[in-house]
Amino acid sequence: MTPRPLPVVVLISGRGSNLQAIIDCHRAGQLPVDIRAVISNRPAAAGLALAAQAGIETTVIDHTAFGDRAGFEQALSAAIDHHSPALVVLAGFMRVLGADFVAHYHGRMINIHPSLLPEFPGLDTHRRAIEAGAGTHGASVHFVTADVDGGPVFAQARVPVLADDTPEELAARVLEQEHRLLPTAIHWIAAGRIELDPHGEVRLDGSVLGAPRNLAEEAALSC
Ligand code: GRF
Repeated sequence: MTPRPLPVVVLISGRGSNLQAIIDCHRAGQLPVDIRAVISNRPAAAGLALAAQAGIETTVIDHTAFGDRAGFEQALSAAIDHHSPALVVLAGFMRVLGADFVAHYHGRMINIHPSLLPEFPGLDTHRRAIEAGAGTHGASVHFVTADVDGGPVFAQARVPVLADDTPEELAARVLEQEHRLLPTAIHWIAAGRIELDPHGEVRLDGSVLGAPRNLAEEAALSC
């Protein structure tokens, strides 16, 4: 049975390649979503043009125009809620979000992070993975909680770290996987397979998920 398209709002800050992956999977008929809007906190985000090209409504809520975080987040949540999304996707959204904002979207906001969380939360993950001598690196999709990059992870994609990798080479290898990981994670939510239960545990097909699913062992999207 084809699930009803999931109403989604995507938040970005920059390039938008993960947004493009979502758009491509939707266009290919592989992702049952209704991308109602793309919202950026940066007016110059390249991803805004990608959204416009795909005919998706775009909004800019420029964080520099607000005196404090509360004002910015109020405007941001008004812009999101205007579209009544069932899911908010942070796809390269580079602002830390406050506890009230995060609570409002509890269980319906996910983020993609370029590391195998809980390793390397925060910025500059690829350089840090190389410097730490990691043999494997990757990306994670998690529900967003007030703990930055600390919410429950439910899907990961792994890549090898090769000898002499530069951070840029490693980032490119991870990004290729991100473009499969994020649409696949959204698909699981759209299909009602993944949810955050009232105890803050992720359930997959009704059962508590002991560990994040590894993309390599799943029927992952590639669009
Ligand atoms: C990705 O690496 C994502 O994991 C991180 O920010 C980057 C965004 O890239 N949160 P793009 O804007 O989707 O191209």
